[in-house]
Amino acid sequence: MIIKSMRLKNIRTYEEEEVKFPEGIILFEGGIGAGKSTLLLAIEFALFGIGNEKGTTLLSIGKNSGHVELTFEAGGKDVRVFRSLERNRRSAGTLHQGTIVPASVKQGECWVEVDGARTSYSPKEMKENILKVLSYNEPADPKAKSVIFRYAVYTPQEEMKEILSQPPDLRLQTIRKALRIEEYKIAMENARNIAADLRRNAAIIRDGAKRLPEVQKEIKATEEELPRLEAELRQVEKEVGRIQEEIEALKAELDRHRSEQLKYAKDAEDVQNIDVDLQNVRSQIAGRRADISKHKRRLEELHARIETLQQVKEPAMSEADVEMMLAQAKASLSEYDSEIGKLKADVERMRTLVEGGFCPTCNRPIDGTEYGAHLHEAQEKYEDAKKMRQATYDRIKELEDIKKTIINYENNKKELNALKENVTNTEDWIFDSEQRLSDAEDQEKKLLARRLKAIDAAKRYEEVKAEYEDCNQKIKDKERDSKRQLERKAKLEQEMATATLNMEHLRAEADRLEAELRRAERLSWHSEWLVKYFAAALERIELTVMNTVRREFEEEFSRWFSYLVEDPSKGVRIDEDFTPLVTQDSYEQELNNLSGGERTSLALAYRLALNRVVQRSSSIGTDLLILDEPTDGFSKDQIGKLGDLLRELQLRQAVIVSHERELEGAVDHIFRIHKEGGKSKVFPAMA
Ligand SMILES: Nc1ncnc2c1ncn2[C@@H]1O[C@H](COP(=O)(O)OP(=O)(O)O)[C@@H](O)[C@H]1O
Ligand SMILES: [Mg+2]
Repeated sequence: MIIKSMRLKNIRTYEEEEVKFPEGIILFEGGIGAGKSTLLLAIEFALFGIGNEKGTTLLSIGKNSGHVELTFEAGGKDVRVFRSLERNRRSAGTLHQGTIVPASVKQGECWVEVDGARTSYSPKEMKENILKVLSYNEPADPKAKSVIFRYAVYTPQEEMKEILSQPPDLRLQTIRKALRIEEYKIAMENARNIAADLRRNAAIIRDGAKRLPEVQKEIKATEEELPRLEAELRQVEKEVGRIQEEIEALKAELDRHRSEQLKYAKDAEDVQNIDVDLQNVRSQIAGRRADISKHKRRLEELHARIETLQQVKEPAMSEADVEMMLAQAKASLSEYDSEIGKLKADVERMRTLVEGGFCPTCNRPIDGTEYGAHLHEAQEKYEDAKKMRQATYDRIKELEDIKKTIINYENNKKELNALKENVTNTEDWIFDSEQRLSDAEDQEKKLLARRLKAIDAAKRYEEVKAEYEDCNQKIKDKERDSKRQLERKAKLEQEMATATLNMEHLRAEADRLEAELRRAERLSWHSEWLVKYFAAALERIELTVMNTVRREFEEEFSRWFSYLVEDPSKGVRIDEDFTPLVTQDSYEQELNNLSGGERTSLALAYRLALNRVVQRSSSIGTDLLILDEPTDGFSKDQIGKLGDLLRELQLRQAVIVSHERELEGAVDHIFRIHKEGGKSKVFPAMA
């Protein structure tokens, strides 16, 4: 790294300043409190922030914000970093024993510009980034600045001599830290801690895998159980098959019974029809028989009547004769009736004449005797006529009776004929009916025969039905059996599936536990390796590194010491703890007895040796060195030698801060720092 320029704003005694850093050996020279160290602190702040220091260290008292902008070259790149400081505005500061303690300060905006590309960061990110840009391989601790920078590049003023007066263990720690040898120890401790962790984990894992033998036992038991279940399942399957076959056979038998049953059922069903037919036929027979006997009775009646009618005699006269005589008699009767009329009138008239005694016509009296005779005669005539009429009348009556007898006879004759025809018809009917009766009786016989057969069929039907039901029952029983066996089969299959699944789980579990045990084994082995090999190797490496470093350090240390102190009788070395020892003619010399210049030389040689060793061990190169007041107590001669020494180091850039004007002759570039009215200014001067 080479510093190119730096701009300050409100940093301690600097209000606004820009300094351009050339290459070569640069001296910043000025009086005490001029602001020399401030420049170096500003460089470190620009790179690594405030670290564990307070922000108030750098921000000018009375200012609320300030910043540093540093331009440098690293790894062939131009880098610009900017960091600002800001005072906490909320408190204006506190009064302490009559003075104001300024308010706290924190880091503000910061950015990095690499080859012109600017990126803003948080202070923490910024530090990580700068370490990367500088290729400083160290942890980015935001609470500290860079260890590499502190020991390889920049030695703050107060640390120059401090290293000599430090107690040995603290010094050793500082050196180990600077050389990062401490990290071996940390690594060893970490390795041991990790090893312990691994052992503990291994123990926990082993404990967790304790049940492996139990799981293995369970696996064995399940392995034995499975074939047993399998065999039982095969047995049940066979049984199911057998029952199924039996059921099939029974079903075929059932079908046979059913068709047989159907057949008989059809025949048996006929009994009722036959009975109906039989009833019909029988009532027909009965009806016919009744009809026939009724007709036979009628026939007898007809014969009897015919007998009777046949006995009636034929009349002597014909009806026409009787009619003729009856007409004559009726004519006579009407003649008699008119004669009787006349005779009755004559009687009346005579009686009137007789009784009156005169003639109504001629009105003359009449002879009574004569007319009495006349009257008597007339009465006799009248009576005779009446008798005659009566006889005629009786004759008519008699003729009419004869007529009636003749008509009657005729009628009988007609009836007889009708009866005879009736007899023929009836006889025909009876014949016909008897024929039918005989047919019906035949039918009855046939029906009875069929009925017998049907009854037989019904009996057979019942038998077959019983067989059918028996068969059906058997099927049901077998099906129940089959169901039972199927249930058993399902149960066995379930058991097998469960056992198989269980087995898988168990095997997986066993595998897992075995893997766990292997893991525990590996962890134990790692743990052992870490302690026995890794930590031991680290220890050896540490020792080797330490020895190498000490040797190198001692070489550098004595080289720079003898460079600065030209006294061949004096020599330096370091002990185990890097405590510097001065020898005078092979006698150890107390450090307190050294002259001021010798002490400064010792300190500078020690710091330079440390710088060089750290530079080498962190491989950051040797182009930049920054020293703050390295010449305290030096003689003129020694100051001159410092210049030679710096040239001997072959640095690209060395920044020396000193109040020593004498150094001016030993450097390439001089800057003078003046402080006026509390404000520092930097002025370049001719070397
Ligand atoms: N926060 C601050 N604000 C203003 N001045 C400060 C602050 N801190 C220290 N100073 C002063 O800055 C001056 C320069 O200090 P420094 O650079 O260390 O001087 P030197 O040139 O001796 O190395 C000193 O007078 C110191 O008291
Ligand atoms: Mg100083």
